[in-house]
Amino acid sequence: MNARAAVLAGLGGWLPPVRVTNDDLARELDTSDEWITTRTGIRQRFVVPPGLSTSGVAVEAGARALESAGAHRVDLLVLATSTPDHPCPATAPEVAGRLGLGPIPAFDVAAVCTGFVYALATASSMITAGVADSALVIGADTFSTILDPEDRTTRAIFGDGAGAAVLRAGHPAESGALLGFDLGSDGSQADLITVPGGGSEYRSKGLAEPGDAFFAMQGRPVFRNAVTRMSESSQRLVRRLGWPVESVDRLVAHQANIRILSAVGADLGLPDEKVVANLDRVGNTVAASIPLALTDAVATGSVVPGHRVLLCGFGGGLTWGAAALRFPDLSVEPLPYHAAPAELAPAH
Ligand code: ACO
Repeated sequence: MNARAAVLAGLGGWLPPVRVTNDDLARELDTSDEWITTRTGIRQRFVVPPGLSTSGVAVEAGARALESAGAHRVDLLVLATSTPDHPCPATAPEVAGRLGLGPIPAFDVAAVCTGFVYALATASSMITAGVADSALVIGADTFSTILDPEDRTTRAIFGDGAGAAVLRAGHPAESGALLGFDLGSDGSQADLITVPGGGSEYRSKGLAEPGDAFFAMQGRPVFRNAVTRMSESSQRLVRRLGWPVESVDRLVAHQANIRILSAVGADLGLPDEKVVANLDRVGNTVAASIPLALTDAVATGSVVPGHRVLLCGFGGGLTWGAAALRFPDLSVEPLPYHAAPAELAPAH
């Protein structure tokens, strides 16, 4: 066994201040609270007000994770996002600068909703290899900025937010040590989740149309892939670790749809109380989804020290991944669910 491990030392999350309920959406689109709640389990989501972008939400979550860890500096920042402030440069150096972290290495990882697991694996590997002694890993996305305002399906699902974790070098036997990862991708199904315009392919073909810059998703095949890929990835990882599946105390999976979470839990034979869910309050926050759900579970006492916790994600690419740890004792601030000032109208 490797003598050095990356250990979870801090955790935090942040939600932007504009709350959009299902009834708010039903006032401008052909949808209803009943449809969205029964098909997805989502009741509300938070979106950025004009002027706030991914770097801003990432800084807020990063600051909370650093505070949770009692850390003022780290050696490395990895930001998982598919909605960077700009196509170039990456958003991570901007976030590191605004957090006052100095001239540390900072870069983005793009794996859509699996981004946080990929970023965690990247930072963990750099720590175990001795490249860094500590890292801030942030998952942040502002999908409200790339959704078609007329698309009732994606508007119902996605919300903005950021979640973050601090890792430090430690020993594999410590609580909080990241014990293993399972990562994968299938580019043959890249067209199921896509923003067609704005990249080099469309531009080189002279194809870019304004609507092509909006996010598009084929809901049904994505749903099926999400269930099988997350179940299989989780099973491969626990098998490799020698954990009987029933010994997993909490599954913190990507928060896309409550029916996906139930199906993954059922595939793994885990009862509902072991499957963490906060998507009713935040929607699908893409790369922020797993750290936001984990932050909520720790702050509310659902995840406690000693728990065997399995993280697992699925997203565009297609990409998927799982990570496992025995949970440490962390002090975590509750998520600001009620940070919706009455004077701010829902985003349009
Ligand atoms: N309100 C009312 N009706 C709606 C809405 C809405 N918000 N959205 C879609 N509908 C309609 C459709 O137009 C369709 O109508 P039709 O039968 O007249 O054509 C009907 O509802 C059924 O549509 P389906 O797409 O078949 O509905 P489904 O039950 O599959 O639910 C959903 C759609 C919620 C998108 C589901 O497929 C899903 O959750 N997919 C997975 C999403 C996901 O996991 N994303 C994660 C990865 S995303 C990433 O990586 C960024």
